[in-house]
Amino acid sequence: MNSPLLQGIDLNVPDFVQNARLIDWVADMAVLCKPDRVYWCDGSQDEYEHLCQQLVQAGTFKKLNPAKRPNSYLAWTDPSDVARVEDRTFICSEKKEDAGPTNNWVDPDQMRQTLLPLFDGCMRGRTLYVVPFSMGPLGSPIAHIGVELTDSAYVVVNQKLMTRMGRAVYEVLGTDGAFVPCLHSVGAPLADDAQDKTTWPCNPQTKYIVHFPQTREIWSYGSGYGGNALLGKKCLALRIASSMGQQAAHGAAPGWFAEHMLILGVRSPQGKKYHVAAAFPSACGKTNFSMLVPPAAFDGWRVSTIGDDIAWIKPQPNGQLRAINPEAGYFGVAPGTNTLTNPNCMASLNQNVIFTNVALTDDGDVWWEGMEKDSGQLPAHLIDWRGQDWTPEIARQTGAGGKLRAAAHPNARFTIAASNNPALDEAWDDPAGVPIDAFIFGGRRSTTVPLVTEARNWTEGIYMAATMGSETTAAAFGAQGVVRRDPFAMLPFCGYHMSDYFQHWLNLEPKLQASGRALPRIFCVNWFRKDESGHFIWPGYGENMRVLKWMIDRIEGQASGVDSLFGRAPSYDEINWSGLDFKPEQFDAVTRIDAAAWEQEFKLHETLFEQLADRLPPALAHTKAALEQRLTASV
Ligand code: OXD
Ligand code: MN
Repeated sequence: MNSPLLQGIDLNVPDFVQNARLIDWVADMAVLCKPDRVYWCDGSQDEYEHLCQQLVQAGTFKKLNPAKRPNSYLAWTDPSDVARVEDRTFICSEKKEDAGPTNNWVDPDQMRQTLLPLFDGCMRGRTLYVVPFSMGPLGSPIAHIGVELTDSAYVVVNQKLMTRMGRAVYEVLGTDGAFVPCLHSVGAPLADDAQDKTTWPCNPQTKYIVHFPQTREIWSYGSGYGGNALLGKKCLALRIASSMGQQAAHGAAPGWFAEHMLILGVRSPQGKKYHVAAAFPSACGKTNFSMLVPPAAFDGWRVSTIGDDIAWIKPQPNGQLRAINPEAGYFGVAPGTNTLTNPNCMASLNQNVIFTNVALTDDGDVWWEGMEKDSGQLPAHLIDWRGQDWTPEIARQTGAGGKLRAAAHPNARFTIAASNNPALDEAWDDPAGVPIDAFIFGGRRSTTVPLVTEARNWTEGIYMAATMGSETTAAAFGAQGVVRRDPFAMLPFCGYHMSDYFQHWLNLEPKLQASGRALPRIFCVNWFRKDESGHFIWPGYGENMRVLKWMIDRIEGQASGVDSLFGRAPSYDEINWSGLDFKPEQFDAVTRIDAAAWEQEFKLHETLFEQLADRLPPALAHTKAALEQRLTASV
């Protein structure tokens, strides 16, 4: 045991940690943050159970009824700490122009001057946990290692489910392996011998989620929740990794891509396998799509999950794009999930789950809005996510706008290991990844964007992805129904200038040309069109298989499609309608191009392009002009 005493703090370095840079960094951060103790996580099941028990004792976790939900826990957060804080998220590149106009930027030196006093002593009275994790299969040439230092045991147990975390990572790091340092504090130091007065310590006033792309560091202060605190996910696997992938592009080298995309496999009854990566903004059903159960008419077809949120995509010398899921678990939105919308997900939640901000039932189980569709009734009594009594009557009296007051927070989550998922793909952990056949880009749009179209060429596909828009939902932003442009579903997650990001994608085509292999197809989808009375027209969920099958028919040259404003679209008879009563008029309602709406839509694309004008690739402006010409010619 090598245990240097640093300013009164015992570092407690275990023998199996040999990486000098890691030990030095932990020592420096311990001196800065001044925890009472330092604990190096080994990722064992014993450690997990011990920490969960500790969280139960602290009141942060409630152990759920083991007869109903074995080995599962429920946490309720501080009401001020319920979602990612985009306005407190910063990309501190050396030059402001490299962060681009869609990111918050502060000069890195200035940001350090702001952060250092905040972190000074921020872990007083707490334990500093050293959490080593691998994003991607351990030891894979595609994977990258991060080490999170945190004063939150909740973060440690979530990281155990969400990543490959523990002792094996120190082995991969060896004596001189590289890692991304991720420093996290809830920002709530305790005075001498004081105990927490709250079960969810955080800093309601001050939050900073900071990325330094040049030095590849993450500093997060003040929040204990989700993407603000589980730093492997949005911070490392998207913001830092997207910038690493772009920095890796030089000359003919295409670099790589860290994307806000699910990855799914589709196997035909003949055993042919396809892989699709799909980008949707937060709370647009990525987890549901990645676990889709095909309708009965698709007997013999199987959809399987490689990832539900993030894809790392590496172009290969032979022109293939191979993708891995850097995560090892899911941090999914619970409300709306039930056996009708996502039976695989419900089965994944039977045991070994950490729930956050859902409601507690009287028999020690969990409940959220949407579960009444399974049981056919609302529960008679619950304790809601704020710890208050909830009955249908109280909810009616206290709800806003004629709605029942929600028992679960709309952004309530479950955390599970990927191995819980009955639809897990057999290659999900393959270090070589899976070859991508198609990309799908989609947002939540009640009007304008049709059910599905396929880009006529790579540049048109990049245009579709770059101009994606989505109506905001309560889960992420409070206000509902406002269309926010969300290029590639990466607006909150791109670690550099969005225009350079578009160029990085456009460059793939010439860079991969020499391989002679066709690039993946690109499709644009919208599951969310509504009729005049505000009802969704397309049934969605498992029925999305019908659209997926049309895409496969396009790949196989078995569907010619028809020309449409925004790419090639299916004709009614190219979709398999067996088992679904969906009339040509309804199909028209989800596919029709409304010229006036598109005129408006192009104006909104223009607003985005004006914002990004300093570096916007000319190819996108040309594509817009060509699409506008098509629109004019069609009216
Ligand atoms: C997520 C998100 O949690 O996109 O995946 O917000
Ligand atoms: Mn996401």
